[in-house]
Amino acid sequence: MPRNNHKIMGWTMAGGRIAIGSDHAGLGLKAVLVTEMSNLGYKVDDLGTSGAGSVDYPDYADRVAEALAAGWADRGVLVCGTGIGMSMAANRHRHVRAAVCHDAVSARLTRAHNDANVLCLGARLIGEEVAKDCLRVFLATPFEGGRHAARVAKFA
Ligand code: RB5
Repeated sequence: MPRNNHKIMGWTMAGGRIAIGSDHAGLGLKAVLVTEMSNLGYKVDDLGTSGAGSVDYPDYADRVAEALAAGWADRGVLVCGTGIGMSMAANRHRHVRAAVCHDAVSARLTRAHNDANVLCLGARLIGEEVAKDCLRVFLATPFEGGRHAARVAKFA
């Protein structure tokens, strides 16, 4: 089996390119998630922030959105204090479907039903293990299509 294929909770997760960004509040959790994805065989593009200084989260949401639009990344991950600001900023981009998740069920269903392409996490609200669960499930779960495809198409 190639290194970037993993069987997690019954799904086969194919490796891909993931763009990740955070503000200062999400910096520590971002580092944990970068390591987690690298260990799982993903190619990770860390788009910052890279220091503890205060920054504006929309700038990093824009960077991840641009990576998706350019085809440099298949999916994105954004971390701020709550995940909320990042999701609001990312969803201003028409090609982005960003979802804030606090548990693995939300992460699974936003992939299966909403075809979310950006996972937003709140570093001040959830612990590292829950965040890693959300991440693994988000990356492993395919879009179900079918009746959900017509609904997602209406976003446009
Ligand atoms: C930064 O203090 C904080 O406002 C930001 O990380 C985020 O939680 C916004 O939604």
